[in-house]
Amino acid sequence: MADNAATSGDEGVERRDFLVLAAGAMGVVGTASFVWPLIDSMNPSAEVLALSTVEVNLEPIPAGQAITVVWQGKPVFVRHRTEEEIKQAAEVVVADLRDPEPDSARVERPEWLVMIGLCTHLGCIPLGQKSTDPQGEFGGWFCPCHGSHYDTAGRIRKGPAPTNLPVPPYSFVSDTTILIG
Ligand code: FES
Repeated sequence: MADNAATSGDEGVERRDFLVLAAGAMGVVGTASFVWPLIDSMNPSAEVLALSTVEVNLEPIPAGQAITVVWQGKPVFVRHRTEEEIKQAAEVVVADLRDPEPDSARVERPEWLVMIGLCTHLGCIPLGQKSTDPQGEFGGWFCPCHGSHYDTAGRIRKGPAPTNLPVPPYSFVSDTTILIG
């Protein structure tokens, strides 16, 4: 009886070992088949490469309005600033800013502000693109996720975001067209 008990106990151990090994093998197969599409997806397709630059026609954007375009999967805010917005941005004492940057360093031409529309705190899309949106205490953009306020140059002025909204690489290819990227 004791032998039988021992034998069935050993079989139990062996069966458990097999199950553990089988589960391990499944895990490897599962991981391999999970990792491959991930690695494969990291090779940029021709379509993605084509979107590494985006041309934007500025003509339809009147002063005081903005559009959002997508560049490399990110929202980019393109705002046609008013004289008043430019004045507000230029009058700020740069040394008092959390991320000190003069307005002139953030624009190619003062009337056009181009920046990546992702809050530098945790990546929400700030409000302020539509005229009906809240624009925060500094007249620019307001991130509703945790209350970051950006000014009319997209600089962080209040709330948890550590840095200004980043300016992507772009250039004017004509008076009314920019190329982002
Ligand atoms: S993500 Fe914008 S304030 Fe937190």
